[in-house]
Parts: sequence; C-alpha cells; structure tokens
Amino acid sequence: MLSYRHQFHAGNVSDVFKHALLCRLLLALGRKDKPYFVLDTHAGIGLYDLNHAWSEKTGEWRKGIARVFDRSDAPEALQPYLDAVRAENPGGGLRFYPGSPRIARRLIRENDRLALCELNRDDCAALQAAMQGARHTAIHNQDGFTSIKAFLPPRERRGLTFIDSAFDQADEFARVLRTAKEAHNRFATGMIAVWYPLMAPSAMAAFARSVQASGLPKTLQLELAVHGEDWNEHIRGSGLLVINPPFGLDLEAPQLLDWLWRALSPAGEGGVRCEWLIGE
Ligand SMILES: C[S@@+](CC[C@H](N)C(=O)[O-])C[C@H]1O[C@@H](n2cnc3c(N)ncnc32)[C@H](O)[C@@H]1O
Repeated sequence: MLSYRHQFHAGNVSDVFKHALLCRLLLALGRKDKPYFVLDTHAGIGLYDLNHAWSEKTGEWRKGIARVFDRSDAPEALQPYLDAVRAENPGGGLRFYPGSPRIARRLIRENDRLALCELNRDDCAALQAAMQGARHTAIHNQDGFTSIKAFLPPRERRGLTFIDSAFDQADEFARVLRTAKEAHNRFATGMIAVWYPLMAPSAMAAFARSVQASGLPKTLQLELAVHGEDWNEHIRGSGLLVINPPFGLDLEAPQLLDWLWRALSPAGEGGVRCEWLIGE
C-alpha cells in the first residue's frame, strides 16, 4: 500500500537540505568531461505546485524553501540550488518547487543519463508530464529498491544512486542500508546518497553502528535538525549518507549546512553534523 504522497511535504526543511546537497553531488560529477549516470530510486512527481491543497494543508514549505528563496546572502555553494528553484518561478514569487528529477534534469549535461523510478502509478504519470521532453531521461513505474539490479552498474561507470525513500515502512533504516550495500556491490566506485529522517537518539546511534558495520567504503554523514533531540511532534530534521563522496565535500558542506541551519531554524534549535562515519 502506497500512502505517502510527497506533495504534502515538498519544499520542506528536509527537501531544502537534500536538494542543496544533491546539487553539490551532481556538480562534482560534472567536473570531469566523462559522462555520468544518475539513478533516482524514489523520484516523486518532479514538480510541485505549492498552492496545491495538500501543500497548503501542512504548510511545511513555509518553514522550508520560503525561508531561503528570497535570500541574497546565501553562500556560493548554495546558488545552484537556489537558481534551480528560482528557474521554476520566472515571475519572481515562490509557487513551484522542483523535486529531485527536475533538479537533476537541469544539472546533467548533454551526454549524461538519468533514470527515474516512481512506484505510485498516479505520481509516475505526473512525473512523466513534468519531465516531458527531457533528454537522456528514462522514467519507470517500478520499485526503486529492485531497480538497483536493473540499472547498476551503468555503462558510464561513473554516477550517483540517490535513495530517497518515503520511510513509510517499519525497518526502513535496514532496508535503505541493504539497498545502498547492494548498489555498492554492483558499482563499487559509484557515489551513493541515502536520505533518512532523524528519529530518537538511540535509534540514530543504532543506525550509525549498522552503517559502520556494513562494509561500505568511506561515508560522510551530513545532518540538519531544526528541533532538539527531545522533539517528537514530527521529524526534527534529516540526514544524508554520502558513500564515496566527491573530493572536498567534507570541507564545503559545514559552511553550507551552517548557513542553511541559521536560515531554517530561527529559534536556534537543533544543529548540523558533518562527520566521516566511515573513514578512508
Ligand atoms: C520522499 S518522496 C521522493 C522525493 C523525490 N526524491 C524528491 O527529492 O523530489 C518518495 C517517493 O517514493 C515513492 N515510493 C514509495 N515506495 C517506492 C518504491 N518502493 N519504489 C519507488 N518509489 C517509491 C513515493 O510514491 C514517493 O513519491
């Protein structure tokens, strides 16, 4: 049963965090001339109208993208992300928010390839419409977890697997980790990014231990929280594991995340993390 719909959450704090970092990963892949491949295992619908009743219902975007959209003092590393959101809103006001597929579509180059998996049939149809005319892009109404076997390793031998699960099932931390492991086993040099929500500290410590015991190669752990560890009304923040991260991300991410955190947490709650969970 697929009950999760990203329209309720588009443009929220977690989206700002993950999409700002997604831009850094894709730009890093683009530093070399050789083509690369992106597999987005949980693609969503690609473009979100923030005037939609579901977005209005939660209002999550008001505490996310609305807090950074108009800022003129963002660090340079955040500009590609802000440009991607602003490009969807040529009139200047904030109404449309790009999901990972539209962000990737903007950043991939002439010979790079993008594969998008979305299991929900209606959302996949909306994704088709949002990606119409996109070059070198394949859209699949299929399970993103099993797509690893179908698409990896890519012929380019370079690329990113972006695992952005809806976390709507029990034991999802174990499932995303198994999937990352499988992606790594099939494509050892590929970059992998795994999004996760921040839960109770004991659950997060257990997750960190299981990542460290997984046999994965060097892994950077990036997190941004806008509430303290005792917060339990809804998620307090989220994280991204970056396996085989691009050179320099560990140095660039702290400044980027610190700026975002100040913008997204006006009360100064929560904080950021940028640590090697698994070193060289
Ligand atoms: C968090 S949203 C994705 C957001 C998107 N990656 C972005 O950044 O714009 C998760 C999406 O995964 C879809 N989904 C749920 N289970 C799935 C599965 N097993 N395979 C592929 N998609 C799935 C949901 O319908 C939802 O659209």
